[in-house]
Amino acid sequence: MKIENLMVTGGCGFIGSNFIRYLLQQDDFEGQIINVDFLTYAGNPDNLSGLEDRYPGRYQFYRADIRDRERMEKIFADCAIDAVCHFAAESHVDRSIRHPEAFVETNVLGTFNLLEAARGRGESFVLFHHVSTDEVYGSLGPVGLFTEETPYRPNSPYSASKAASDHLVRAYHETFALPTTISNCSNNYGPYQFPEKLIPLMIMNARDEKPLPVYGDGKNVRDWLYVVDHCEAIWTIMKSGRRGETYNIGGNAEMENIAIVEMICDTVDILLPAKGRRRLITYVKDRPGHDRRYAIDFAKLNRELGWRPRESFRSGLEKTIAWYLENKTWTEGVQSGAYLDWIKEHYGQ
Ligand code: NAD
Ligand code: TYD
Repeated sequence: MKIENLMVTGGCGFIGSNFIRYLLQQDDFEGQIINVDFLTYAGNPDNLSGLEDRYPGRYQFYRADIRDRERMEKIFADCAIDAVCHFAAESHVDRSIRHPEAFVETNVLGTFNLLEAARGRGESFVLFHHVSTDEVYGSLGPVGLFTEETPYRPNSPYSASKAASDHLVRAYHETFALPTTISNCSNNYGPYQFPEKLIPLMIMNARDEKPLPVYGDGKNVRDWLYVVDHCEAIWTIMKSGRRGETYNIGGNAEMENIAIVEMICDTVDILLPAKGRRRLITYVKDRPGHDRRYAIDFAKLNRELGWRPRESFRSGLEKTIAWYLENKTWTEGVQSGAYLDWIKEHYGQ
């Protein structure tokens, strides 16, 4: 498979920006990246600063909305797009509970627009890779793992919109023979994650000695994957995954939320002068429909393509905490405007 003009949607977001940086460093990718991002509150051009200069002729940015079908078709034609890696989405469960509409528009209709544009490219189109989540499978009890055969049972407007988009991608393969792959991944963490999500929110609040809001009893379990491991898995699937297939991606790192928050407190205590941050842990009202446990079986990806995560949760978390403490300009940049409005709306003062 040779990709010449790869559209990466949502490339200014957390995972998309890590992916673009990762891909430009790979010897087995020689094509050009066309980053299409509408720059919502979650999209930050600073996540990719300097890239155009460092990789001349290899990277282009379009500020564009995937909900705008005509615009998508024009970019596909102008740039002779022959592959897509689709990250762009509304991605935060709590926001989907407060404002679900944007999730249907971007995640479902936006994906549909891209699939139609890809179909319009005919034989020249080589791959549509769709980046999705393990949340489509719903919630697990204390035992068991999500496999690719687990029935979809999404519980939040976010996961329902991602599930709908997964089904559309699958249908375009079955009906129109569009070359597709789908990956369903567990919770990511690492540099450039917007601090509405658990790990960066807790690191920044622990740094600033602000309350650490833990939902419910803090015993909900997520499987965690360091973002660079996710990028490697996606590129592995894009290169060698069977077309029309879905691959689960996981970190082998199941953790209760409270254990993560305590690890963050203890690590920040070591790195900064003030101590005793566990006192900041504050149990707050639970999220409605809060999934209890996610856990991923990624045996298919390991067996077929040899991928496994490289980072342990402890080493990945330590790197991530160090990054957030060192990159003050970035954290100050995101801690304004839309971020402040959200914190006020969701957590109160
Ligand atoms: P993010 O919220 O950090 O970034 C989303 C990006 O999409 C932003 O740059 C935003 O500007 C852009 N975007 C939003 N709406 C758009 C629109 N209408 N048109 C164009 N661009 C738009 O998200 P993320 O955490 O980087 O997640 C990326 C993808 O990975 C999503 O599809 C998400 O469902 C999936 N995923 C995320 C995780 C996770 O833990 N973060 C885990 C598994 C899967
Ligand atoms: P989050 O990072 O929002 O990811 P997701 O909901 O997609 O799994 O949340 C991860 C877990 O952390 C989830 O169980 C909810 C919990 N959580 C808190 O306890 N407090 C918070 O302030 C946030 C944002 C999340």
